[in-house]
Amino acid sequence: MKRLILVFPFIIFFILFSNLLFGGEGMWLPHLLKSLNEKDMQAMGMKMKAEDIYSVNKGSLKDAIVHFGGGCTGEIISDKGLILTNHHCGYGYIQSHSTVEKNLMKEGFWSKGNDTELPCMGLSVTFIVRIEDVTSDMLQGITDDMKDNQRRLLYDQNQNELLKKISKESYQDVMIRGFYHGNQFYAFVTETYKDVRLVGTPPESIGKFGADTDNWIWPRHTGDFSLFRVYASENNLPAEYSKSNKPFKPRHFLPISMSGVAQGDFTMVFGFPGRTNEYLTEEGVRQITEVQNPVRIEIRDKVLKIMDKYMRASEKIKIQYSSSYAGIANSWKKWIGESQGVKFTNGLERKEKWDMEFQKRVDQNLAWEKYRKLIPELKKNYIQLEPLALAKDYYAEAYQRNTQLYNCYIRMKRLADAYEGRGEAVYLQRRTEMSEQAAQMFGNMDMRIEKEIIAATTEIVRKGISTELWMPYLKDRLNEVNSDYIAFAEKLFSSSQFTSPEAIVKLNLLPYADWKLAVQSDPVWKFYEELNYFINYGIQAQATVLEENISDLRRIHMAALLEVFPERRFYPDANSTLRVSYGKVEGFKPRDGIQYQAQTYLDGVMEKYVPGDYEFDVHPKLIKLYSEKDYGRYAENGKMPLAFIGSNHTTGGNSGSPAIDAHGNLIGLNFDRVWEGTMSDVNYDVSICRNIMVDARYILFIVDKFAGAGHIINEMKLVYPKKTSKKNKTPMLIKAS
Ligand code: ARG
Ligand code: ASP
Repeated sequence: MKRLILVFPFIIFFILFSNLLFGGEGMWLPHLLKSLNEKDMQAMGMKMKAEDIYSVNKGSLKDAIVHFGGGCTGEIISDKGLILTNHHCGYGYIQSHSTVEKNLMKEGFWSKGNDTELPCMGLSVTFIVRIEDVTSDMLQGITDDMKDNQRRLLYDQNQNELLKKISKESYQDVMIRGFYHGNQFYAFVTETYKDVRLVGTPPESIGKFGADTDNWIWPRHTGDFSLFRVYASENNLPAEYSKSNKPFKPRHFLPISMSGVAQGDFTMVFGFPGRTNEYLTEEGVRQITEVQNPVRIEIRDKVLKIMDKYMRASEKIKIQYSSSYAGIANSWKKWIGESQGVKFTNGLERKEKWDMEFQKRVDQNLAWEKYRKLIPELKKNYIQLEPLALAKDYYAEAYQRNTQLYNCYIRMKRLADAYEGRGEAVYLQRRTEMSEQAAQMFGNMDMRIEKEIIAATTEIVRKGISTELWMPYLKDRLNEVNSDYIAFAEKLFSSSQFTSPEAIVKLNLLPYADWKLAVQSDPVWKFYEELNYFINYGIQAQATVLEENISDLRRIHMAALLEVFPERRFYPDANSTLRVSYGKVEGFKPRDGIQYQAQTYLDGVMEKYVPGDYEFDVHPKLIKLYSEKDYGRYAENGKMPLAFIGSNHTTGGNSGSPAIDAHGNLIGLNFDRVWEGTMSDVNYDVSICRNIMVDARYILFIVDKFAGAGHIINEMKLVYPKKTSKKNKTPMLIKAS
């Protein structure tokens, strides 16, 4: 009886918070699957062992996964280094090979053979060779009372020592990353290949079908994929681009399943999730969703409207701005979904409950006395930081993140720094390069748009920011023009030498001393120098202290959570390192009375079809294939499967990650999350958080039947695994507490 009384509170607690113990939540480290997840994964239907996913001794799934271009994931799907990733991940490169005459974005591209594949300068892919725990080496000499800024010095020292110690080949690199907010460290031995070429991409009307209207939305009908190839040296090692390089021979590549998916099937997603903040306290989440997101959203609302107006009116501007528009719109829409999702699921209350339970436990245990003030201290620091964080967002959104004018300034700044730091010869060389590339530098800019953006964002900043954080220089400039925002922008642009290629070329002919004078008196230069000065000394100087406090407190809070909640399974927040998420194919219920199915079909494309529309037009060839039901071997019961959703925990960076079945075959390509669940970065809730994947069969259908690129299919290995039994059909929908 006594025992029962002791465990009773735990049982209640377990029931109350059980959604955080199981289900699709978690981004797990591949080398720890054996000890932490293997059983769970197998219970959910996985037929593999942990070492089939990650092994140092034999080829395993991880050898087919690459960090693509630093921000996405890709996977190898043939023994000739063929890479599958998202259309939106390769978009910048597809754009760079596009002109008004030969627009690959619009028409698509399918290389006939190796020699017609398109080199993508600057694009690289990275494999993970091995992961090692280096926590004790990294924490060498660090004591509990040390603050983050002191720790950082020691981290650097320890890291330098470690880099000398870790064994690796000359063509490999080592990267060390902190986990659990600085409580654990792992070293990653990596191999980076720099010769990557575009093999194929569907036209935008498929690869970006639904564009921004459908972005983050389920039901979805986007064939968001593209194909690249990794090239290596004669002996299959990393090499700079060279015509003579050979297609890379991988240690493993993913076979592609033709059997499709069914509700309840086991799925895993293997990739490089960028950043999550799952263990924030209530105040931390509130600041993001109720304070920062609304400001960012307001500014981007405006910026996007301006870009859209011009893009709709001109084909040229549409090409110039499509990539940056997509990027800006993407986060804008995600933030809207995130803030709404937290509200809808009572996310703040849920966080508060966790905070209270934490507080209760530490209050009851003398050994945890050191943790008692954590939550109130965090809150105090967050509240003090709030106006500063907000001001930083205002200025960054208004003048840095959403305007290309900032890039012009940054380029000049780098050039000026080159003179100071690396001497005249380097400076002159870079300056010549800049002049040669001047036209290209402005290739994606239209000054009318940039001007209108600056005028509009300045108005928002002026009205939104508190007086004490209002930048004096900007105030003076606005006073000069009687707060006429358009006149302010006009003046900034028209008298600057940074806003046209001709002016830059001319400027760059001056001897250094005159060049420097001219640059320093340029209004754009002055504006950004003043802005940076103000951000650094007027805002950041105060913010740094608080941010460092918060970072210290979060590190201790994380360590405390691991100690205080031994019954919870904690996974480390995403930090752009290789992770495994797993769950099931399953629909969900976004609102009362609505049930989303897990699978969509080509029929949905035709339902959404708006002839001539820039987002929902459909290619005549696709219409023909649809009306003749000409799906080849890729259909299921006479229908063409297109996309599906599952309860795999993913975030930005997971785009392009493979969705893998119980046996290790590719069944889909991850590319998005459902809008209702984008709050998964701060508040995962298995009842509404779903990732979205293109069905592998749709990819094959497009390559084969739409593009007629059967030679690419022939490289792949198509398999027909037996369908998994429907035993796992019960969905794991557990309502958030
Ligand atoms: N929402 C997806 C992700 O976060 C896709 C973004 C690309 N598509 C777009 N229309 N912007 O990356
Ligand atoms: N679309 C995202 C990406 O590009 C994935 C996500 O945020 O779910 O990585």
